[in-house]
Amino acid sequence: MSIPEEIDFEVDAEDLSEFKPNGRELGAPSLVVDDLYVTYRIFGGKRVAAGQGRPGVLKRVLNRSTVHMGGLTSVEAVRGISFIARHGESIGIVGVNGSGKSTLLRAIAGLIPPTEGSVYVSGEPSLLGVNAVLMGSLTGERNVMIGGLALGLSPEEVRAKFDDIVEFSGIGDSIYLPMNAYSSGMSARLRFAISAAAVPDVLMIDEALATGDAAFRRKSKDRIDAIRDEAGTVFLVSHSLATVESICARTLWIHQGKLVMDGPSTEVCAAYKAFVKKQDG
Ligand SMILES: Nc1ncnc2c1ncn2[C@@H]1O[C@H](COP(=O)(O)OP(=O)(O)O)[C@@H](O)[C@H]1O
Ligand SMILES: [Mg+2]
Repeated sequence: MSIPEEIDFEVDAEDLSEFKPNGRELGAPSLVVDDLYVTYRIFGGKRVAAGQGRPGVLKRVLNRSTVHMGGLTSVEAVRGISFIARHGESIGIVGVNGSGKSTLLRAIAGLIPPTEGSVYVSGEPSLLGVNAVLMGSLTGERNVMIGGLALGLSPEEVRAKFDDIVEFSGIGDSIYLPMNAYSSGMSARLRFAISAAAVPDVLMIDEALATGDAAFRRKSKDRIDAIRDEAGTVFLVSHSLATVESICARTLWIHQGKLVMDGPSTEVCAAYKAFVKKQDG
């Protein structure tokens, strides 16, 4: 599938692409990412997203897209990515560590401003919004409320969904413990359960499914299918290509901040697998 040179909102969805995953008819565009660039700036060892001033974690940066200028280092994490997602589409994102997958999702969620280019989203993107507000020192119960409110639910709606969310997450009475006490798998499952409760327009899952057991993955896949059927758009970042292929008909492969391939998951995952194999050996 190719990306149109010019993005024109007047165009009909069916003119944009002939690619129909699983023969499904897809809806109108839910998300347009247009020549997106995201550059992080790191001052004196502290990481700050360009144009935002949000301090991040210090990690060693040895990336080809890293530019050193005196005391200032720039990391061009996303470099000119364009694609269109439609209602009713599940899209996988694959790429080696540091290729820019999480940055792309954060920019789609509006958590990092683009350095250049634009992101147009219809409706509220979810999950990263939830991740940003959850607090480890509070109980799972409190975080369900906070996360639900962040997704635009009313307190009554959150209360009505509370039992379902806890049951889905499978964490039982641990819901009354602070989230700091959870294993990474438990908090990932609770985050997923909260995010999926609101039937968001755009659901983004960043490495959150890898931690669950087979039963949880099965439930998650059903929930993702339901959201997609309600004409939402789902993005899934996962190291498990089998998970990506089973959930997503379409996959984007990102490398060094650039979109190298966009098409049917079987083709993209096969090409990515071959690339990783070549790198390893
Ligand atoms: N908060 C940050 N500040 C500065 N650089 C960052 C920050 N987050 C990620 N990076 C850098 O941006 C690049 C892309 O990272 P990321 O989007 O996390 O990739 P992925 O999710 O594919 O592993 C990497 O070089 C990473 O070190
Ligand atoms: Mg990541």
